Amino acid sequence: MDARLTSDRVVDVAAATPFQLLYDFYRLSGYEQRRHEPGVLDFTFGDPHDPPSQAYVEILRESVVPQHELWFAYNFGDAKAIEAATESLRRHLGIPFEAADVHLTTGGFAAISTALKIVGDPGDEVVYSLPPWFLYEPIVLESGMVPVKVSIDRETLDLDLDAIAAAITPRTRVVIVNSPNNPTGRIYPPSTLERLAAILDEASERNGRRIFLISDEPYNRIVYDGARFRSPVEFYPWSFLAYSYGKTLLSPGERIGYLAVPPTMPGREAFRDAIETVQISGGWLFPNASMQYALPKLETLAFDIPLFQRKRDVMVAALREIGYRVARPEGTFYLFPESPLADDVEFTRALDQEGVLVLPGRMFETPGFFRISLTATMETIEAGLPRFAAAFSAVAAAADA
Ligand SMILES: Cc1ncc(COP(=O)(O)O)c(C=O)c1O
Repeated sequence: MDARLTSDRVVDVAAATPFQLLYDFYRLSGYEQRRHEPGVLDFTFGDPHDPPSQAYVEILRESVVPQHELWFAYNFGDAKAIEAATESLRRHLGIPFEAADVHLTTGGFAAISTALKIVGDPGDEVVYSLPPWFLYEPIVLESGMVPVKVSIDRETLDLDLDAIAAAITPRTRVVIVNSPNNPTGRIYPPSTLERLAAILDEASERNGRRIFLISDEPYNRIVYDGARFRSPVEFYPWSFLAYSYGKTLLSPGERIGYLAVPPTMPGREAFRDAIETVQISGGWLFPNASMQYALPKLETLAFDIPLFQRKRDVMVAALREIGYRVARPEGTFYLFPESPLADDVEFTRALDQEGVLVLPGRMFETPGFFRISLTATMETIEAGLPRFAAAFSAVAAAADA
């Protein structure tokens, strides 16, 4: 990037560590070619690898057939789509959301950036935990805000509440929480969320300025073992909920999600206009009209929990058998095993030698781990396991030599 031509803001965003690592991996490491090479097994991103469901394709096909002359007009939010999203939110979370507080966005990205911009001013601080979703930092910087990072408790993979409390300053405006968590698969329990709410309440009182919580929960329907997901929104009234359909429907390139304000948010009516204002000024952050028409039917499609639970179980059992230390994810479709080498980038190179592509923990600012995506097919998982074993043995042999 040529800093003489581009704005300081875009230079700062591009220089953000996770963004740079992601960009380098995607664009510069040869990944785009390598993942298509015969015999290479791709466990990197949450992209779909099984063919799209016919039902999904049919719903999208129907939604582009115009039913009146305004079918493809500017669309702030189709009433039927918003009603369907609201109804499903109420059902999944047991919280009586109102349709007027559910705003359709171009996926979770736009929901997060919109929430930041309606409450945050330049210089305000945004606290989140590492390992993070790698685009928090660019989104926060692009909003003119300042990222403040703390680590999770690496043993329990739970939020480190003391670290969060210690990171709060008079400039803190937002805390982002992602549960079920990408990449750890952890669902934060009610006891953690209650204590977090108390910390945020107390700090807001002390600061004389409200700290908001953004609950980033695109995986809230992807939970295993019959677990009930409890949203952070339930515990702290000053919360925004960011959701994306890209995970549940395994279609991250078709952009649709929402930003929802819970009925417990004091003065929430004020946010209705504010959200639309940011969506418009941000460059029309509403989903395409056809995606909105498709939504009520897309809501009837469910994520294949039994299939993914099987993939998780097969993979966790086999990795542990080989000798990897890996937590069993409670939700999402990722595993976050410890790297058998302290240098996780070197270990991902050893896996690459075996034709297996994964992401190093360094890309999540958490060295010593690596991430596996279970969106790989069951065949890929079965073919990959001997290779995970071979890489493990290779580094163990090198360490012994
Ligand atoms: C934790 C988390 N938040 C937000 C997003 C953004 O979702 P989308 O691309 O569907 O907007 C992702 C996508 O990977 C994610 O993992």
